[in-house]
Order: sequence, then C-alpha cells, then structure tokens
Amino acid sequence: MSDAVHGSGSEASQEQRHHHKGKSSEKFLNKELILQALSIQPGQTILDAGCGNGYMSKIFAQEVTPSGKVYALDPDAEAIEALRKETQGTNIEALNGDVTQPIPIEPASVDLMYLSAVVHGFSKPKMKDLSEEAQRILKPEAVLAIVEIDKKETPFGPPLKIRFSPEELKEMVPLTPLKTIQVGEHFYMQLFQNQDKQEN
Ligand SMILES: C[S@@+](CC[C@H](N)C(=O)[O-])C[C@H]1O[C@@H](n2cnc3c(N)ncnc32)[C@H](O)[C@@H]1O
Repeated sequence: MSDAVHGSGSEASQEQRHHHKGKSSEKFLNKELILQALSIQPGQTILDAGCGNGYMSKIFAQEVTPSGKVYALDPDAEAIEALRKETQGTNIEALNGDVTQPIPIEPASVDLMYLSAVVHGFSKPKMKDLSEEAQRILKPEAVLAIVEIDKKETPFGPPLKIRFSPEELKEMVPLTPLKTIQVGEHFYMQLFQNQDKQEN
C-alpha cells in the first residue's frame, strides 16, 4: 500500500495502528462527490474529527463562509499546532482532542460531523463513546458522515479484520442511517441523521 492512508500494520497493536501520523486520504477521495452528498450551506458549523493535516477542514471552511465555522479536531498535537498556525484568523478552530472523549463544543451546535479514515479499528465501546458525543454536539437531525475504506481486498489499507462495512457501522451507530455513497475507488461514505434509529 501507499503509506498515504495506512500501513498494513499487521504486527502492530490496535492502539499503535491508530497513530496515523502524516497519513491523508486526500488523493483517494472524490471531494466533489463528498461535497455534493453533504449539501453544506454557508453559515453552518462543521466538525472534522480526526482531521489529520486538515485538508478537508479547509475545503469545508470555504463552503461555510462567510459566517460559518469549522472545528478541526485531532489527538496529534503536532498536526494540530501546525494547522492552528496555518489557519490563524480564519473560520477554522484547531482543537487537540479525542472524538471518543468530551469535546469542548457546545451541545446541539454542529450541522455536520465528518470522520474520514478514522474509525476503523475502533472498539465497540469507542464507537459507543463517539456516537454519544455525536448525539450531544449535533443539532437535531444534523448529519454524521463516516468515510471508510471498503471492507474487501484493496491494494493498501489496514487489515481487513479491523475495517468496518457500512452494515457494521449501521449496527454500532444508534442514529438513523441515511445513505451509503461510493466516494473513491476504495472508499465509501455512510451518512447518518441525528435522530434515534426507528425500531422495526
Ligand atoms: C488516516 S488519518 C486520516 C486523516 C484525515 N481525516 C484524512 O482523511 O486524511 C487518521 C486520523 O485520525 C486521528 N485519530 C485517531 N484516533 C482518533 C480519535 N480517537 N479521535 C480523533 N481523531 C483520531 C489520527 O490522529 C489521524 O490524524
């Protein structure tokens, strides 16, 4: 695999696999398709959780201009410090933090929470914590978007056993699934709406 997104990491522990320092999904994703599906409006507030180098935060920031805001969150202190310096005085606020822990963002204040190439390998408890934080910060009926690598053999990417299919995400995330869209040769985006899943 190109090490742009992930190494194969077969001997690394699950925690080690989640240090994706310097890895970016940028060249693998169709940004136009993503933006089209997300229908972002000026004035909105977006959280790019696990933003890495922040390339998508910067695209979102243009879409929500002039009055909107983007929070770019990552536990990688160095990446966040670099992004903070680069985006000083813009509508991007770089935050050093973990999406499975309480984030310093007001309840019901976010229109879109976006995670790209972040959640594979998260344990069920971590997915639960992430979902709870999403439910807390998203406005009612706002959108959670999760971009992940397909759960099948690909020329690069993490071990299959730690990847999630859209169906597995839908089982773990207690929000209403909207749609699944292919957003790159090897990547899909699963959208959820912040309302409780309808029980059959
Ligand atoms: C493969 S990179 C993807 C970066 C970017 N989203 C992209 O698509 O290029 C995964 C990112 O997720 C971050 N990450 C890992 N665990 C996280 C967590 N619990 N909360 C927030 N970000 C996390 C890593 O620090 C890393 O920057």
